[in-house]
Amino acid sequence: MFKAKIIGLGKYIPKRVLTNHDLEKMVETSDEWISSRTGIKERHIAAPEETASTMGAEAAKKAIQMSGISHEEIEMIIFCTITPDMLFPASACLVQDILKIPNTGTVDIEAACSGFIYGLSMANAYIVSGMVKNVLVIGSEVLSRFTDWEDRNTCVLFGDGAGAAVVSRTEEKDPSGIIGFKLKGDGSFRDLLYVEAGGSQKPASHETVEKKLHTIKMNGNATFKVAIRTMSEELLELLAETKISSDDINLLIPHQANERIIAGVADRMNFPKEKVFMNLSKYGNTSSATIPIALAEAFEEGRIHKGDSIALVAFGGGLTSGACVFKW
Ligand code: UT7
Repeated sequence: MFKAKIIGLGKYIPKRVLTNHDLEKMVETSDEWISSRTGIKERHIAAPEETASTMGAEAAKKAIQMSGISHEEIEMIIFCTITPDMLFPASACLVQDILKIPNTGTVDIEAACSGFIYGLSMANAYIVSGMVKNVLVIGSEVLSRFTDWEDRNTCVLFGDGAGAAVVSRTEEKDPSGIIGFKLKGDGSFRDLLYVEAGGSQKPASHETVEKKLHTIKMNGNATFKVAIRTMSEELLELLAETKISSDDINLLIPHQANERIIAGVADRMNFPKEKVFMNLSKYGNTSSATIPIALAEAFEEGRIHKGDSIALVAFGGGLTSGACVFKW
């Protein structure tokens, strides 16, 4: 049997910044409302020529560089996104071509804000089974292209960005590596958060465009309540299954949607604030990219040390949810 561990991390944040004050000029809102209700101060917006795959490739370059492996050694690219360049081909194929990775499988997965944890779990399964040695997992989103910029309920929340990790085979006796996952999905909550048109149920038409059905719709308040309950329950279940006490976790990296959701989860878990990583004030909610961006940034900031136990937890449209624990 093998184990899997993360050996490289990278992030890419597009240059353009959109502040809460900028949004005050676009919709009926205020910096005070956005800051106090969400914790977000600004978000980044992709340039017109940037896409999920170009941003994902930039983050991947950095993750590969940190890992020290060559492009030839990557055997699988898992691209997590709800905002792919196109319906198909997969954005993973486009990254393969941008980075000229010669011998790799390519697949996109769609699990909304939980996407990166699902991607990591697939990488782990491929590696533990002995099928491959090195997997590139990318979370990249251009949510600004699916945002209704006249809807204050949603447009203040989202941002663009990408993060990536190289996950590699290690020996079972290695004290560092991935310990476990908990993944769940419940389609009965599909009406909480969705993009209605552009798929086979409601293909693009003049009517769908006029009604802005290609943009994100959300029942924020209901999502808020389910998010706190689901994330804390799932993480508690995973910790119980892996026999790890929450005191033993050195850093919790939750999905970055709302400061109050994160505080609610931390409260229920009895996690002190210092052990919870947050960067949403700078980036807003970048869906499947929040966790890999936060991981890369926590590492850059020296908040992850050798031997640390790290917990990830996320929640998103679907609904989907996921938790992961690993030792660095
Ligand atoms: O990535 C995972 C999925 N997404 C999330 O996790 C998001 C979950 N939800 C949330 O983060 C919060 O529910 C929001 C930040 C979206 C909203 O906060 P809330 O405390 O749940 O507010 P609310 O929806 O209860 O709305 C309160 C009021 C409403 O006005 P009335 O009806 O009370 O007069 C809204 O119309 O705030 C109003 N409002 C705004 N006011 C100023 C909604 N958006 C804005 C805005 N600026 N941008």
